This record gives sequence, structure tokens and C-alpha cells, in this order.
Amino acid sequence: METKRKLYIETYGCQMNFADSQIVGSIMTENNFETTGNIAEADLIFVNTCSIRDHAEKRVRARLQEFKRYKKNKPGLIIGVLGCMAERLKSQLIEEEKMVDLIVGPDAYRDLPRLLSVAESGQKAINVILSADETYADINPVRLDSNGISAFISIMRGCENFCSYCVVPFTRGKERSRDPETIVKEATELFESGYREVTLLGQNVNSYNSSDGTGFASLMAKVAAVNPLLRVRFATSHPKDLSDELLGTMAAYPNICRSIHLPVQSGSDTVLKRMNRKYNREWYLGRIASIRKFIPDCTISTDIITGFCGETEEEHNETLSLMNQVGYEYAFMFKYSEREGTTAAKKFTDDVPEEIKSRRLKEIIDLQQELSTKSNLSDIGKTFSVLVENVSKKSSSELSGRNSQNKVVVFRKDEFKPGDYVNVRITSCTPATLKGEVID
Ligand code: 5AD
Ligand code: SF4
Repeated sequence: METKRKLYIETYGCQMNFADSQIVGSIMTENNFETTGNIAEADLIFVNTCSIRDHAEKRVRARLQEFKRYKKNKPGLIIGVLGCMAERLKSQLIEEEKMVDLIVGPDAYRDLPRLLSVAESGQKAINVILSADETYADINPVRLDSNGISAFISIMRGCENFCSYCVVPFTRGKERSRDPETIVKEATELFESGYREVTLLGQNVNSYNSSDGTGFASLMAKVAAVNPLLRVRFATSHPKDLSDELLGTMAAYPNICRSIHLPVQSGSDTVLKRMNRKYNREWYLGRIASIRKFIPDCTISTDIITGFCGETEEEHNETLSLMNQVGYEYAFMFKYSEREGTTAAKKFTDDVPEEIKSRRLKEIIDLQQELSTKSNLSDIGKTFSVLVENVSKKSSSELSGRNSQNKVVVFRKDEFKPGDYVNVRITSCTPATLKGEVID
């Protein structure tokens, strides 16, 4: 039997990228490769990259420098750059980073076997063509680094919202939805092989719309109906498209998790307008009120960008006040990073000085820390059903899992194992974790 060659994949950025790496893993295993977690034994190294902020690109470039070392030791080694940086920089990346042999954008992964043979013949290989219909619907992802309990299912690709700061519409192209039958089939197979949680992924899942007319709310209902023991989550939502129909569906299925990630980006109407977010503060707060009405025990998390072009102190304070008003359980918080080619880069000036961005970011992070602590303290005494995922990182006698609200809960191991649902009463907390005891 022919021995299989070894592929090492390193992934940066969002959950979509992690899901894409699993598709790439699947395409390559069909082509006589096996994946390895040990870079030293790799015949092929792929880096799946992110362009969302300059910092993300810098990290990848620094990592590429480190790959030179492996190439020196193994002359035939091929290095490929995948994903958003490949799409954004195209052949420029090969000119700048000489050790790169292969460049492939997010819609061209089916072309990898051909690109690889081009690269092996000593030529540089590149395909960054974006597609209007590629969803990789028929490809069964290889579950890399999986705990065997929770998995991502990619349900749509691309984004056409064109928020003024964002590079994603340029790197990931047009919005397209995957056929619902293939999604339900993937969820069913995952459940049958022991998985207990799926997260439906897309840049903007609320605008999911398949060719047979299935919208996101009915897709969620179909996936939730696979089995009451299968938890269903989703990410990410755009506030302008979060419908009451979806909230009604969430309320109707106890296995749809009680947590919504609803990126607000800013609490100021004038900033939201410059960002082209297509909603204002009042409208956003209306969506929050609707979530509270339909699903009172739902947690809400968000993304915030600080120091966007022209952001004044007053506008910044409006973000702080909105955070207080919503009382987010969790937030991802970023300094604005200008991205070439976006409307913001063309129309506005990145004029908030670095030290002011840093100070505002710190204020936002400190406030979020307070809000997270407050939320966790209010859980003490409550009992939650926890899906066990892993042995705790800190102690082998403890297990770690999450409740429906997406909070991490740690408790004594006893006879439980990953995949079990355990009722846990919360006894103490840190800002990031709940601790508790098992209830019979
Ligand atoms: N600068 C900083 N943060 C950004 N994000 C997107 N583009 C930028 C940018 N240019 C953030 C947004 C988005 C999250 C995925 O990344 O908050 O929701
Ligand atoms: Fe970027 Fe806006 Fe699309 Fe999110 S919704 S990926 S922030 S353009």
C-alpha cells in the first residue's frame, strides 16, 4: 500500500476558518494525505489565515518566517497560504514571502490537488477566484482537534453587508446558503457518532436563505428536531436581521441554546452610521428587549470596535452606556484597524491617536469585566444542565462543560464523562467561570 503523505494545518481567525480547515483536511485526505499535529513530520504545511485586523496578518507573517526553518531541513516541503490573506494579497504574498509555494482563496479549495501538483513541479501555484455558489455542501469535514462532543457546521458563506471598516466582503465574496438537507444530514450523522452540540456558522446567519425558500428560523427548527439531546447554537448574527420569528423558534426548542452573539460595534448613532451598520442604538435596544421577552434566560454577547474614524469622547461614552444598559455577559473588544480597500479607508481618516484607542479599549474591557462578574455572581444558587466537554484544564479531578447560556461550568468529576448532561448547582465563580456541585 502506498504510504500517505502528511499535512499539517494551522488555523487563524474566526470559527468559519476553523470549519474551512476541516473541509481542506477532507479534500486532502481524499488525495492521499493524512493530517498530523506534528509540524516536524509534515510534507505539506497549510496556514489558514485571517485579514480582519492588521495584527492578525502580522502574526501570520511572523509564523511564516518560522516555517523557513522546516523548509531548510526538508527541501521538498510545500508551504501553502489559505483563506482571507491569500484572497486579499493574491500573488503579492508570494513576492513578499518567498518561501510560500501555494496561494488559495476561500472558494478554491476543491482546486487544491491540482495546485499542489503545480507547486511540486517547482512553479508557484495560485487560485483566488471567488465563487457565487460554492458552499462545499457535499464535503464531509474531517473533524480536526475535535473533543468529539461539539462541532461546527458551515451553513452559508460570504457577506454583502459592507460595513465600512470590514474586509470580509472582499475576501469571502458573495453571500450564498448551503442546501438545508445537507446541513440536517451532517447534524444527524454527528449526533449518531456521539456529538451532542452543533454550531451553525456563517458571517451573517440571519440572512440564510436557501434556493428552496428555507429561511434561518426554519433551518434552526429542522436541526433542533434532529434530537432533543443535540444542542444547537449559531454564530454570527447581524442585528438588522435578527427576527422575532427566530426568537420564537428558539423559545420553542429547549435544545436551541439560550445565548445570542449580537455584535453592536458601537453605542453611538453617528458612529454606527459611519460604520454603515444599517441600524441605530434605539433599534438595537429594541432587538435586545425582544430577546428578553421571548427568552428571559438568554445571555447576550457582542463585538465592539473602539477608536473608529472620528470617534469622539462623547461617542465613546455612548458605547460604555450601551454596554451598561444591555449588561452583556461577554464581549470581544478591538481597536479599530484600517483595512485597505474598505469604504472607511477610502472615505474617512483613521484619526484617533493610538494612546486614546488604548485608553478607550481599557475602559471598555474593565467595564465588561465588571458586567461579566455581576452576571456570574447572579448565577450562584441556580442549577443548570451542563454538557460535559473535557477534563478541566486546571485539575484532573474536575470536569468542564458549558450550560445552555454558553458559560463554562467546572465541577467534580465523579463518574461523569464528556458527552453527559449533568445538573450542576452553582456555588462560586470567577469573571470567566462558574463552579458548582452535582445535583441528583
Ligand atoms: N478593525 C477592528 N475590528 C474589526 N472587526 C472587523 N473589522 C475590523 C477592523 N477593521 C471586528 C468586528 C467584527 C469582528 C469579527 O471583528 O467587531 O464583529
Ligand atoms: Fe464584516 Fe459587517 Fe459582514 Fe460582519 S456583517 S463580516 S462586520 S461586513
